[in-house]
Amino acid sequence: MFGLFARKGPFKADIKPSGKALTVQPGDNLLKAALDNGIAWPHSCRVGSCGTCKARLVSGKIKPLVDFSYTLEEEDLDAGCILACQSLLKSDIEVEVDLESGELVLPEPGQVEGVIGGYRRLTHDIVEVGVRLNDPLPEYLAGQYAELVVPGVINEPRNYSFARAPETEESRSATFFVRYVPGGVMTTWLFGEDRTGSPVTLRGPFGTFFLRETDAPMLCVAGGSGLAPIKAVLEQEFSRPSRRNVTVLFGARTQEDLYCLDEMKAFESKGAGDFQFVPVLSLESEQSDWEGRRGNVTDTITEVISNLDGYEAYLCGPPPMVDAGISVLRRAGLEESKIHFDKFLDSSHKPRAGSEVASGFQRERALLSR
Ligand SMILES: Cc1cc2nc3c(=O)[nH]c(=O)nc-3n(C[C@H](O)[C@H](O)[C@H](O)COP(=O)(O)OP(=O)(O)OC[C@H]3O[C@@H](n4cnc5c(N)ncnc54)[C@H](O)[C@@H]3O)c2cc1C
Ligand code: FES
Repeated sequence: MFGLFARKGPFKADIKPSGKALTVQPGDNLLKAALDNGIAWPHSCRVGSCGTCKARLVSGKIKPLVDFSYTLEEEDLDAGCILACQSLLKSDIEVEVDLESGELVLPEPGQVEGVIGGYRRLTHDIVEVGVRLNDPLPEYLAGQYAELVVPGVINEPRNYSFARAPETEESRSATFFVRYVPGGVMTTWLFGEDRTGSPVTLRGPFGTFFLRETDAPMLCVAGGSGLAPIKAVLEQEFSRPSRRNVTVLFGARTQEDLYCLDEMKAFESKGAGDFQFVPVLSLESEQSDWEGRRGNVTDTITEVISNLDGYEAYLCGPPPMVDAGISVLRRAGLEESKIHFDKFLDSSHKPRAGSEVASGFQRERALLSR
C-alpha cells in the first residue's frame, strides 16, 4: 500500500571523495547517469560482468538489476560495494568511487549508421573489419570501444575496441580486430560469409581504457585481438613527441597467431625512448624454429621488467590473461591506479537471468536494510 506512494525519482547521487553530484532519472542506472553527465566513472562492459564500475554505497537505497555476487568478491559485498551499471536508485544516495584524477571528461557517446566495408585476414581466427560510416565517427580516445549491432540479425550489442587511434583512422571509418569465438552469434555471422555491404549500427565510444598522457614508462600486455586497443594506444602515444620507454608483451598460442609484427616494428623508430615488442608463445611446438619466449605471457612480465616502479600498465584481451596479469602487477607492488585494463568478456560471462531475480531480490533486501 505504502509502495504506491514510493518516490520514483529523480534521485541525487553524491560522489565521494570527488565532491561531484549528479541527478539520476527514473529508469537510468547510476553509471549511465554519470556518463551522461560527463563524469569519467570507471567502466568497461556495462552489463555487470567486469566489476570495473564498482563503488561503495555509503548511504541510501538502490535496486540491483543482477546478482552482484556473480561479479564482486565476498569482501567487496561485505564492504557494501555495488555495480553502478546495474543499480537503479530508490532514494538519494552517497557513493564512494575513485574517479580519474583531474578534470577528465569522457567523449560523449553517439550513434552512427554504416555498412561493413571489408575484411583483412590477420591470422587464421582474427580479421580486421572495416566499417564505412554514413557520418563522421563520434570523437573517441584510443583504447575505447564501440558497440556494434547488425539490425535485424544481431540486436544485442557486441563490443569491439577501436584498432586505430583517432589520429590514424580514416574519415567516416572505424576499424576493429575481431577474433572468431566458436558458438558465438556475432562472430559466426561475421566469419560465415563475406558480409561486405551489410548494414551495421555503431554506438560509442565507451570505456575508461585509454592512454594516460604521462611520461611514465609503459608496460602493455595483450592477448589475441586485445592487441587492437593496445595498437591504438601506441599510435596515439607516438603521434606526440614521446620519450617513454615502452614494452609490449604479446601472448599467443603459436607463431600462426602472431600478427601486426610490421606495425609493432615500426613503433621502434617513433619515440625517443626504448621500444621493445616481445611475443610469448604458449603452445608452440618444442621442435619448431621459434627462438623467442615461450610460456604464459603474464609469467614473463617480471622476467622482462624486473623493477616495475613508476610503470603504467595496460592490459587487454581474454579475461583469464588479464586477471593473471593484474595479480602479477599487484604482487610486484604496482598501484591500482597505474593498472588499466579491458577484459574481452562475452555472453558466457554475463550474470545469469535465472538467479538474478531471486538473489538480486535478496541482495536488494540486504541493501535496503542497511
Ligand atoms: C570492452 C570490450 C571490448 C571488446 N573488444 C573486442 C575486440 O576488440 N575484439 C574482439 O574480438 N572481441 C572483443 N570483445 C568481445 C566481443 O564483444 C564479443 O563478446 C565476442 O566477439 C564474442 O561475440 P559473439 O557474439 O560471437 O559471441 P556470443 O554470442 O557472445 O558467445 C560467446 C561464447 O559464449 C557462449 N555462450 C553464449 N551464451 C551463453 C550462456 N548463456 N552460457 C554459457 N555460454 C554462453 C557461446 O557459445 C560462445 O562460445 C570485447 C568485449 C568487451 C567487454
Ligand atoms: S561496467 Fe559495470 S560491471 Fe562492467
